[in-house]
Amino acid sequence: MSNPSLLILPGDGIGPEVMDQVTRIIDWFAAKRDLPFDVETDLVGGAAYDAHGTPLHDDTMAKALAADAVLLGAVGGPKYDDLDFAVKPERGLLRLRKEMDLFSNLRPAQCFDALADFSSLKPELVAGLDIMIVRELTSGVYFGEPRGIIEEGNERVGINTQRYTESEIDRVARSAFELARRRNNKVCSMEKANVMESGILWREVVQKVHDTDYPDVELSHMYADNGAMQLVRAPKQFDVIVTDNLFGDILSDCAAMLTGSLGMLPSASLGAPMANGRPKAMYEPVHGSAPDITGQGKANPIACILSFAMALRYSFDQGDEATRLEDAIEKVLADGARTADLMGPEGGTPISTTEMGDAILAALDASL
Ligand code: IPM
Ligand code: MG
Repeated sequence: MSNPSLLILPGDGIGPEVMDQVTRIIDWFAAKRDLPFDVETDLVGGAAYDAHGTPLHDDTMAKALAADAVLLGAVGGPKYDDLDFAVKPERGLLRLRKEMDLFSNLRPAQCFDALADFSSLKPELVAGLDIMIVRELTSGVYFGEPRGIIEEGNERVGINTQRYTESEIDRVARSAFELARRRNNKVCSMEKANVMESGILWREVVQKVHDTDYPDVELSHMYADNGAMQLVRAPKQFDVIVTDNLFGDILSDCAAMLTGSLGMLPSASLGAPMANGRPKAMYEPVHGSAPDITGQGKANPIACILSFAMALRYSFDQGDEATRLEDAIEKVLADGARTADLMGPEGGTPISTTEMGDAILAALDASL
């Protein structure tokens, strides 16, 4: 039997630096836990544009569709700001999401105890925080038609369309309810049903899925603006939040900052089950390409490593090994290891990206 396959797309900016540390972790699991993967690496985003004139080559798309899971670093950077919209680095990422049909984007916001002081909120509001944002990822205003910039009279008009079908809402709602059952059994659905028809339909469908198949889960609805406010007022009231593509983009950045650093947060984007029963999947850190610190050894690799932990859990049925990795990270942080993004007001000497990798590998060794 062949090993499970992983396609690694380091991408741009700090993507390759943080992914180097993930590769060391993958090698560790092969050597020490008898968990070998067939790993292939390819280009995405600006790196792919530089090589091929497109942010995602068709061959890479085909490899992504064939892999058991995709690990992505980050895309984009100032060098590509003036590119034509159709070949911008972000288009590569959006094409992966769309063609792999990764409709359910899981963005956990978890506050490590050792980092509660780093949050912009008071430590008692975030200590022990553990929420999961489920963001719809393949529809809504990101993909809706019509779109474009057109001439109207003597001026131009920018157009995008928010559009959701019942089945698109239904399937992402189900994934949120399923997750909630494995957590604290609470879902809060967020939209703007007060001003948007798509929000009215969203609310109706989520409620119907709940009443029909998940009556045991506690469901509430909230307008997304109130949701943003509640997230910074009392974030621990939430367990699972389910929301659309654009609100999910914004609310997940907001939730991320509650935990102290964007450099800590992983994500999983899941689609329909493949022949092997596991969902089609791509894993990526929530942070972007961070051009301001690229190439300086300052980047925090934890979000990307935690994304691999999510892959172990959701794609490879290795929940215990995922927990082993998460515990190793927790221990390293408790011992005081800090990359530059985790420097509190009291300062200190940050460790490098590679040193953080070293520390996590040592903690993994110690876990055996
Ligand atoms: C994200 C990012 C992307 C998005 C960009 C890079 C296209 O902000 O994954 O949250 O808007 O979805
Ligand atoms: Mg975003």
